Amino acid sequence: MWEDLEVTVEKVPADKRKEKPSADKLGFGVHFTDHMFLMKWDRERGWHDSKICPYHDFTLNPAAMVFHYGQAIFEGLKAYRGKDNQLFLFRPKDNFERMNNSALRMCMPRFSAEKMVKILKALIYLEKDWVPAAEGATLYIRPTMIATEPTLGVKPSGVYYFYIILCPVGAYYAEGCNPTKIYISDEYVRAVKGGVGSVKTGGNYAASLYMSEIAKKAGCTQVLWLDACEHKYIEEVGTSNIFFKIGDQLITPPLEGSILGGLTRDSVLKLAASWGVDVVERQIAIDEVLAANESGQLQEVFGTGTAAVISPVGELLYKDRTHVINNCQTGPLSTRLLTELQAIQKGYQDDPFRWLVRVA
Ligand code: COI
Repeated sequence: MWEDLEVTVEKVPADKRKEKPSADKLGFGVHFTDHMFLMKWDRERGWHDSKICPYHDFTLNPAAMVFHYGQAIFEGLKAYRGKDNQLFLFRPKDNFERMNNSALRMCMPRFSAEKMVKILKALIYLEKDWVPAAEGATLYIRPTMIATEPTLGVKPSGVYYFYIILCPVGAYYAEGCNPTKIYISDEYVRAVKGGVGSVKTGGNYAASLYMSEIAKKAGCTQVLWLDACEHKYIEEVGTSNIFFKIGDQLITPPLEGSILGGLTRDSVLKLAASWGVDVVERQIAIDEVLAANESGQLQEVFGTGTAAVISPVGELLYKDRTHVINNCQTGPLSTRLLTELQAIQKGYQDDPFRWLVRVA
């Protein structure tokens, strides 16, 4: 039970700790810190064996259910080194609550989001030297839950691992914050309403890979998915939500079950509205976007995500035709959102929505 769940701490001896990568070699998700958090769940004991411990490999039975039926969920959030060298987390409880929603949909056990924030703070504090100071670099946090019961019957697993691993990261896209080229898929789809598109589960990403490879061959960084029924309405980009500045409005597709409710998406909606921008969550057809581009009304397109932050889109490739947006330049709204969001995340600016959690 959560009330009496104790977290033990086993530290890596100082002389056995890893060398930290230099700021120019961070990449995304390639270097992992010295410690991790791990706990286990089974029907008899609930969550147990909760520990902060050295980063290590798992030994799993080849029949572990995650390998066969994909019961796996995860989150992505970041720790920031900011004002006066302080360390901050951005909306961590919201991430754990979203993970609990994913757990519910995937028939996996839930946990106390509040308690998990406390554990995460302890883990980040232990790994504080891993939080990079370089501009644009952060410590990416990957909470993950997997089904580990060794059995091949199709049913919810009776045993799970929950773990958190950490990696210092640079920009997610090689382009950094320069505009990306995005492939619009009119053949393959990501998710359908009623499915698991709104759940952060590994299978959604596995299913996107085939189309991503086609996009890459066409010189694009990512895929923009259209709705599964009519192949007409915009859904989301592979690793981010998407926004369109058309005339005076900032438009993003609504959360109706097939797209992920991104926390950066939510933060952008709230921040832009607080500046007086007319933000609208509504269905938007690809034809409307392209017509707005032709008429000069489409001013900016950008993706939002924890990894991608604010990622401007400079070109859209649709049915073999490239549509250039805003002369392939980063627009003023994208720039302001990126600057102010990062200033809030690092404690340099007022935090009117109380999103920030100080670690140390
Ligand atoms: C994130 O932005 O944290 C994500 O989960 C995207 C990831 C799959 C790279």
